[in-house]
This record gives sequence, structure tokens and C-alpha cells, in this order.
Amino acid sequence: MKIEVADEAGLGERGADLVLESLGGRPDPVWGVATGGSPLGIYRALAQRTFRAWRGVRAFALDEYVGLAPDDPRSYRSTVERDVVRALGLDPALVHVPDGSAPDPVLAAKRYERDIEQGGGIDVQVLGIGRNGHIGFNEPGTALDEHTHLARLADETRIDNARYFARMSDVPVSALTQGPATIMRSRRIVLIALGRAKAPAIARALTGPVDPVSPASILQRHPDVTVLLDADAASALPE
Ligand code: F6R
Repeated sequence: MKIEVADEAGLGERGADLVLESLGGRPDPVWGVATGGSPLGIYRALAQRTFRAWRGVRAFALDEYVGLAPDDPRSYRSTVERDVVRALGLDPALVHVPDGSAPDPVLAAKRYERDIEQGGGIDVQVLGIGRNGHIGFNEPGTALDEHTHLARLADETRIDNARYFARMSDVPVSALTQGPATIMRSRRIVLIALGRAKAPAIARALTGPVDPVSPASILQRHPDVTVLLDADAASALPE
């Protein structure tokens, strides 16, 4: 695991380097995208680069709320379309987001896992991390060998994400998410974390035991992870 500390702009540039390096040489590149605030600097940096092959990139989002229509502006489908598809010029037909409005979400999760496999697996997965150590919506207590599944959101996660909703009661209670095992099958992982609120989760994930109480700790077992941190997010790591 490589850990790099820089300011926010530097992290965005470095994340963009890693994504392009991973997708650039592949005949059928597959990109795993996260939503939330942390990766926005990477997407902004990517938008400034020249990469003519975006139209051929297949992408898979990490997760989606259950119960929001895909065209709801708060859905991750809408977010990915705005921040990634339109910003970079990806082909919308090649961009997949779990179907959080499916009548049978469990079946939708299975289909999503199969689609990732049939797409050839993810070449580079961008991740954020929750204050409670979640990656995707794999909350503390999730079995680390889970694949894409229907997940209940932790109270802490709902509180953190309430900023995107008018009322706390509007924040969905569940989501479809790639599981820890799905994420671990990506060939490369780039985790980005900003701000002091993430420091305890980063320290537990990177230096604590591999344990479901800290879902991100599973990344210690992946052979190609780069962790991009600002000084605040790195502040609880041992010297
Ligand atoms: C988003 C996702 C989440 C976020 C995490 C951090 O698709 O799966 O795990 O990465 O909640 O969110 P931000 O970046 O908004 O702090």
C-alpha cells in the first residue's frame, strides 16, 4: 500500500495520473467511480487532461441509493452523469450504476456483480471513505467477503449525507453497493480522503487489524492500493 500526502489540488492531479495510467494502456478499459465529495478533485483534474479514449471507457459506479428514481438529482446515477459522464465525455451507454429503483433490489445487486465480471473486471477503482470506515456503502459489520448487495445505511452515514437532502427523513435507509470482495477484485485501487474528520477512519483502516468493524481495512490485503491524503486526513497516522 502506498500512502501519499499532498494538498487537495495535488491529490486531484495525482489521482488523475493514476486513473489515466491504469486505463490508458487497456484495450477495453473499465473504471470504477465513487460519488461523494472526495473524488471531485480527481474528476476536475481529469477534465483538464487530454485523453481521447474516454468514449470507449466502460465505467461502474460503486453504489446507489435504494428508492430514488434514476433521474432524481440526488441519485448517484444523476451525480455520475453530471460529474463524470458529461464532464469527461464518456459514452452514457457504457456507464453502469446499480439500479436502486429495481422492484427486486437483491436481484439487481446480483445482476450488477455479473455485469462487472462480464465487463472484464475493473482496472482502477476510485474510492472515498466514510468517517466510520465504510467503503462504498459497506458499513461496519459487513462481511468482508460480500459481493454487490443490498445494504442498510449506518446512522452516521445518513447524517453525513443529509447535506444533499432537504430533510433527514428523506435520506434513504438502504443502498445497493459493490461489496468488499467486489472492490478487492479491482486491479488497482485509489482511495482519496480529505479533512480531519476522516483521520481516525484512515488510521484504523491503514494501521489497525483487518476487521469488519473497519471495512476499509480489507484494502491492506490488496496488492495495488494508493492512498491519497491531505495533511488533515493523515494526521492520526503514526509518524
Ligand atoms: C460514494 C461512496 C462512499 C463515499 C464516502 C465518503 O460512492 O461509496 O463510500 O466515498 O461516504 O464520502 P465523501 O467523499 O462525500 O466524504
